[in-house]
Amino acid sequence: MDGNNRLAIVIMAAGKGTRLKSRRPKVLHEIGGKPLLLHVITAARAIVEPDDIHVVIGHQAERVIEAVSSTGVRFVEQTEQHGTGHAIQCAAEAIHDYENILVLSGDVPLIRPETIQTLWSFHREQEAAMTILTAHPENPTGYGRILRKAEGSTEVSAIVEQKSLRPEQLEIGEINSGIYAFRTSELLAQLGKLQANNAHGELYLTDVAALLVSAGKKVVAVEAAQAVEVLGANTIAEMMELDATFRLANARRLMAQGVTIFRPETCVIDAEVEVDADTVIEPFVQLLGRTKIGFESRIRSYTVIENCTVGNNVLLRQSCVLTDSTVEDGAKIGPFAHLRPGSEIGPEAHVGNFVETKKTKLGKGAKANHLTYLGDAEVGAATNIGAGVITCNYDGVNKFKTTIGKGVFVGSDSTLVAPVEIGDGAYIGAGSCITKEVPANALAVARAQQIVKEDWATEKRAHQKKQ
Ligand code: UD1
Ligand code: CA
Repeated sequence: MDGNNRLAIVIMAAGKGTRLKSRRPKVLHEIGGKPLLLHVITAARAIVEPDDIHVVIGHQAERVIEAVSSTGVRFVEQTEQHGTGHAIQCAAEAIHDYENILVLSGDVPLIRPETIQTLWSFHREQEAAMTILTAHPENPTGYGRILRKAEGSTEVSAIVEQKSLRPEQLEIGEINSGIYAFRTSELLAQLGKLQANNAHGELYLTDVAALLVSAGKKVVAVEAAQAVEVLGANTIAEMMELDATFRLANARRLMAQGVTIFRPETCVIDAEVEVDADTVIEPFVQLLGRTKIGFESRIRSYTVIENCTVGNNVLLRQSCVLTDSTVEDGAKIGPFAHLRPGSEIGPEAHVGNFVETKKTKLGKGAKANHLTYLGDAEVGAATNIGAGVITCNYDGVNKFKTTIGKGVFVGSDSTLVAPVEIGDGAYIGAGSCITKEVPANALAVARAQQIVKEDWATEKRAHQKKQ
């Protein structure tokens, strides 16, 4: 294996994360709407080009596999979790053929690819057996601490876990990030010597540092550029702090690309969201999942958009909810509009207040401005849907389609009972209940006749007075 120049990345992700008090495995908790483990896998690949990535799984292994299998990583099972040292022991078979390995922790998600590269370069320059990524966070409590051979030395003599710190060691501000580079043969030579005679009764990977030093091998440490990128989260509150840090950085990334975000700390913008320049995002907006927004659009406050594609020059007014839908250039939506999955709003179309759409396509310039439900419908270009119109798409068992042509005028408060078709240019009188096809350019009126009785009220009142 020595000299073959191959590199693997091993991500430890088998732990339960007991302190989170959650049924979900820790590495599947999310920051920026993306599981911790996916953040780590993405960073592991971004600059350094490992030959393979092996993920050590154990607690709820099937769930973890399902969440990340699309990334093409390999899996190593650690059926019982006896500590980080044991995790790597379980991976020994899988890693022995790579000259070097980088070990990352599945619960340290803000690690930047540049920092993984720094660790890797430093490890090779130093020709070390083990290289530890460290940091000086504001509060080092809870982390393993780095004992340097001498002040200012690049070499390390040991890593001491929080619970094993002697009183004078509590002062040490340099922490172990849980991220390392190893020459694999040197690591494997020590792994069998690990002992569980510590506060947790576990095999600590961190003990490999002192074992290597005793064997006369070189162990060095390099500090991460920013302490925040190596922070872990043991509780939900800490997880949410990482989430806030991540989201602010993500909002800054978008702003650097020309997007205006007012009060970015109030917005919830997921990791994969893309927004083009000159779009304005007002306070308290949520952009979730794989949402994409074009240029010069405006998203007003309290709007929540999930997995949608929104075009250029679109206005999304206050308090709209859009899910799995598309909105084309120049459309105007809301306030208080609800675009449910499969809505396709065409260019310059308008969807106004208290309008709900589902699996519905609106053509260019079509309008549904007030109090309407459009489900399983197709609405042609320049058609006007009056206030309160409803497509009755559901008979209690099955769903049916409503097809409305181009340039149609559907009068207010009409109900269109699907399946039904309305031809191009037709008119529907207000208050109609349409159950049959309406041909192109026809007028359809389907409502009770109005009865007028002259002076009926006057006579009624005169009659009432007499009694
Ligand atoms: C570990 C380090 C500590 C460091 C900290 C940084 C040890 C003994 N300590 O502590 O020095 O400051 O990370 O975040 O390594 N895991 C397994 N199998 C196991 C146990 C853990 O795969 O049997 C995985 C976990 O899922 C997690 C990672 O290893 O992703 C770290 O384990 P964790 O128990 O969180 O270690 P820390 O106590 O944080
Ligand atoms: Ca941890």
